[in-house]
Amino acid sequence: MKVLVVGGGGREHTLVWKIAQSPLVEQIYCAPGNPGIAELAECVHIGADEIDTLLDFALAEKIDLTVVGPEVPLTMGIVDIFQTAGLEVFGPDKAAAQIEGSKRFSKDLMARYNIPTAAYQSFSDHAQAVAYIREQGAPIVVKADGLAAGKGVIVAMTEDQAIAAVDDIMLDQVFGDAGASVVIEEFMDGEEASFFAFTDGKNILPLASSQDHKRVNDNDEGPNTGGMGAYSPAPVVTAELHQIIVDTIVKPTIKGMAQDGCPYSGILYVGLMIKDGKPRVVEYNARFGDPEAQPLLMRMKSDIVPVLQACARGELQQDSIDWHDKAAVCVVLASGGYPAVYEKNLPISGLDRAAEIEDLMVFHAGTALKDGLIVNQGGRVLGVTGLGDTVRDAIDKAYAGVKVIHWDKVHYRHDIGARALNR
Ligand code: AMP
Ligand code: GLY
Repeated sequence: MKVLVVGGGGREHTLVWKIAQSPLVEQIYCAPGNPGIAELAECVHIGADEIDTLLDFALAEKIDLTVVGPEVPLTMGIVDIFQTAGLEVFGPDKAAAQIEGSKRFSKDLMARYNIPTAAYQSFSDHAQAVAYIREQGAPIVVKADGLAAGKGVIVAMTEDQAIAAVDDIMLDQVFGDAGASVVIEEFMDGEEASFFAFTDGKNILPLASSQDHKRVNDNDEGPNTGGMGAYSPAPVVTAELHQIIVDTIVKPTIKGMAQDGCPYSGILYVGLMIKDGKPRVVEYNARFGDPEAQPLLMRMKSDIVPVLQACARGELQQDSIDWHDKAAVCVVLASGGYPAVYEKNLPISGLDRAAEIEDLMVFHAGTALKDGLIVNQGGRVLGVTGLGDTVRDAIDKAYAGVKVIHWDKVHYRHDIGARALNR
């Protein structure tokens, strides 16, 4: 069969790498892809949000399965458009993708189905939002309703900070339409973890546990990022907690979406806050996590393609996934300055040496090919992912890869996985 993967980051490189191992697959295309993906798939120069052009391509090439990586095409309705054209596609449709596309939608869903989360209120009126902050006090969390490229959440430690955030979002419209309304919610304390489940809209197939490191610097200091590294399994998610998450969060979410007339299929990403063994939802995403996909899919032993197909067809019968009995750790190499401004087009060395290391994969995210050289092009550039018998071994493996790769001003954290070791 022919598979099209939509996207061009580390998550999509990992998906392509995993899909390429399936005996069912003859050819993989990726739009737009990146230089790492180009080693495994044919990259086509179509942006992930150029849905009409992607559709023309998929029809012309008779693509058997399209797998959508990022959230933007999902919230734009790529799945609806492909399905209407008779194509099989993995991911939620436009209505269901609101679970990530609108914080208000997801909070209202959780409230309706008693899914544990922070107390909240939504506002489309600025003065009412400010009054609510004054009444609740700090710390408090302000969220733009719509997609804001991961920047729309402000964890405010003072009332003034929270009000400044509401001003930025609602008056100055720093996130455009995404800030027409805001969700203001209770600050939750605890340890964060990411939980993923495949679903066809009715049945669920949970993945192994994972955690990412969101802050840019060691010891969780500095601003939030898309994720500076991740590992799997996450010791905070015990077998007992796994079951609680499935029963009190994942199942009611999927059931609630179906009852509300917008069944959710694809992969559901639940961001969790765990305190005293009790999980609460921080947010949902309608896609795989990045970088969580990297350690997770490196550990996945089962063929992923039948699972993707079953979700797309509404026929998910499989009730377990085989995992390699190993830990995996992904260290993100970022451009110096990220998540603010950074210099681009700096040549990257050592990728050939890293490729010789066993049980190590270097997934490309923000790279480009320039004059025959691989250069940095985005904030998060590479995901160096190692497997090991223990978390310690996987950390050592990943950092052995990190050590041989270099470019000017490369930045990475030195403590990825340390939280798992400390348990
Ligand atoms: P989100 O985009 O909703 O994942 O939010 C980004 C980050 O903000 C999360 O990963 C948390 O670290 C933090 N965050 C969001 N909501 C809350 C909350 N209610 N309490 C504490 N931290 C939060
Ligand atoms: N790692 C966080 C995300 O994918 O949103």
